Amino acid sequence: MKIAIVGTGYVGLVTGACLSEVGMDVTCIDVDEKKIENLKKGILPIYEPGLEEIVERNFSKGRLKFSTNLAESIQGAEAAFIAVGTPPGEDGSADLKYVLQVAQGIGEHMQDYMVVVTKSTVPVGTAEKVRAQLKSALESRGSDLTFDVASNPEFLKEGAAVDDFMKPDRIVVGVESDRSRETMERLYRPFTLNGHPVIIMDIPSAEMTKYAANAMLATKISFMNDVANLCEIMGADVNAVRRGIGSDPRIGNKFIYPGIGYGGSCFPKDVKALIRTARENGHEMRILQSVEDVNESQKEVMFTKLKKHFGDLSGKHFAMWGLSFKPQTDDMREAPSLVIIDQILKAGGTVCAYDPVAMEEAQHLHLGDKIRYAENEYDALKDADALLLVTEWAEFRVPDWSKVKSSLNNAVVFDGRNLYDRVRLRELGFDYYGIGIQ
Ligand code: UDX
Repeated sequence: MKIAIVGTGYVGLVTGACLSEVGMDVTCIDVDEKKIENLKKGILPIYEPGLEEIVERNFSKGRLKFSTNLAESIQGAEAAFIAVGTPPGEDGSADLKYVLQVAQGIGEHMQDYMVVVTKSTVPVGTAEKVRAQLKSALESRGSDLTFDVASNPEFLKEGAAVDDFMKPDRIVVGVESDRSRETMERLYRPFTLNGHPVIIMDIPSAEMTKYAANAMLATKISFMNDVANLCEIMGADVNAVRRGIGSDPRIGNKFIYPGIGYGGSCFPKDVKALIRTARENGHEMRILQSVEDVNESQKEVMFTKLKKHFGDLSGKHFAMWGLSFKPQTDDMREAPSLVIIDQILKAGGTVCAYDPVAMEEAQHLHLGDKIRYAENEYDALKDADALLLVTEWAEFRVPDWSKVKSSLNNAVVFDGRNLYDRVRLRELGFDYYGIGIQ
């Protein structure tokens, strides 16, 4: 089966690599020549566990190709995936410029029927726009070729994307004809051997499913953050409450961990987008608006605790462990660390951070030299007035506390992820602050 994937970002590259891994003939296309050259050399634009090996293996076997030539690469493909970026436009809504440019390119160059699949996260109604663009491109070359559009939202978690793709909980596909349904079912058959289904539906429902899934997960997190804040006031322990409610299978024990707010490329963007889409169509998503509000204020919770402990923060220096929005990724988009750092700096404090993979990304794209970057986690502690645990990387789980204590100026730990045992830390002489616990 020959497949073309347009866009070698996070979604496109993982999709292309994993489809080639099960034996498909995949070409990944991008307009960025440097990126394509690098990929041919095995240099990946993102960090994702396991991805480099899959790319290398399938590239060397010739099943995975990289090209800047869309016209050539789509020939003979049964499906072309559009996985280009949808950056927020000036008003915050997804800018479909690149998606529609690709649709235009496919319409100009296709020579045979194919299924054109939107894989980028796009607003409900985008597949219709893609169809219109393809149609007009075909008409302007006087072609009567047929095609189908389809919507195939991705549910990949950063840091576990390869695993999620290879062993999905479910695959959602929106189709408009039996022919495209057959193509998409055949394409995904190798991934459903574990019994998880391909759920076929109409296109608008598939587009909506992506938003509803992310909005529901974000809701669980904001709800628990709100409960955590109340626990602190009432003298309850949110960890106990979490275990207590999570054992009810109707609630489930996942995505109910309180913290310092959700970040990343999906939840913040998708929650905002769904609120906006609803509003534009005369409906207020009241719950989601609160989910968003709670998340914004949750990112400030750690700073509030710092203020409460230290009072004036000017001249205070803080060690930060973790910068990325979650472990196993170098992604800094909407990371709570950025809000916390910004607040500390504005209050006259300074920060030295250590993150196992995100420091380069943080320095180049977000923070520049506003903070110091440490060699390792212990190096970050030198002369700091407190340790702030911001991202729960596995390597931060069991630190050498005597080393931590002797490096810090003050034995104070602010744990934004409830990673540490507060009883033990207090026994060791630390002041300890968690989320939703006393
Ligand atoms: C998410 C969805 O999980 C995925 O299905 C979708 O395709 C894209 O968005 P991702 O953004 O990679 O994936 O990260 P995820 O692991 O879901 O975490 C999102 C954020 O929620 C992180 O900031 C994380 O720290 C936070 N989170 C998660 C919590 O605060 N508490 C939890 O219990 C779970």
